[in-house]
Amino acid sequence: MKEIKVFAPATVANVVCGFDVLGFAVNEPGDEVVMRLVDKPGVRLLKIIGDEGRLPLDSARNTVSASVQHYLKHLNREDVGVEIELHKKMPIGSGLGSSSASTVAGLYAINQLMGNLLSAKELVPFAMKGEELACGYGHADNVAPALMGGFVLVRSYDPLDLIALPTPSNLFAAIVYPEVEVPTKDARQMIRAKVLLKDAVTQWGNVAGLVSGLFLNDIDLVGRSMKDVLIEPVRSILIPGFEALRALAMENGAVGFGISGSGPSVFALVKDEATARKITDAQQKHLANLNINSNAYVSSVNAEGPRVI
Ligand code: HSE
Repeated sequence: MKEIKVFAPATVANVVCGFDVLGFAVNEPGDEVVMRLVDKPGVRLLKIIGDEGRLPLDSARNTVSASVQHYLKHLNREDVGVEIELHKKMPIGSGLGSSSASTVAGLYAINQLMGNLLSAKELVPFAMKGEELACGYGHADNVAPALMGGFVLVRSYDPLDLIALPTPSNLFAAIVYPEVEVPTKDARQMIRAKVLLKDAVTQWGNVAGLVSGLFLNDIDLVGRSMKDVLIEPVRSILIPGFEALRALAMENGAVGFGISGSGPSVFALVKDEATARKITDAQQKHLANLNINSNAYVSSVNAEGPRVI
């Protein structure tokens, strides 16, 4: 095989209570990468479509090409020649793991072209290098679910210990992206470095509750664990009408609601697709009244991760 086109999914990182340690993949949106093997050694990013010129084309600075370079270096195969086209199909700086989706599509593509040498889990450290390039910190809560599919827990960063969690059937995400940009780098700088013990107790109770809810297939337990006393109070200020969006989600049948990743996207978890659409419709109407454009995505949890298209 010489050429491949891969789709990799957007992700909802943190899942409200699990800052940097929880995330899940969705079916849409996502990014696509076209990759081909060529004779001339080196990794070249030929073009990016759909980014309005905002992402670096320099192969060393772009998260897709840079992580492919790391991968080939790890395999001692820097003799390999690779050409890449990135098709951005999702908004940048949206809190939906935009850089992660591109990076993961690239890594999945090169791994396929090289004969599937590494597992999805083994690709995660290379994708984390891409996150480091994009936002200054190699967090895994977008790239791990984007690569592995489903819900993933980052039990530990050092050493990296990733746990694939069960995905309850009949669980839908209702995502709304208000078109205001919140770069992850800035959103990370806002957070206090120290937390109160009483807040930590609340937070780890909820993380454990959410994980238990997934194992028990108890969606209500998942929902009532979606509480964040550490990060949301600070970051929600950047999201127009955040409390109203929460109220609309909960009134219309959500089991839980919060910020997706570092925002500004928000998401609700719900038990059926019709409820998800009711929520996103109400929230989009509210944002339109505030003169804010928005996009909505309704999706079940993506259990497979990237795929060849
Ligand atoms: N855990 C990361 C953060 C996710 O909240 O900064 C970024 O999408």
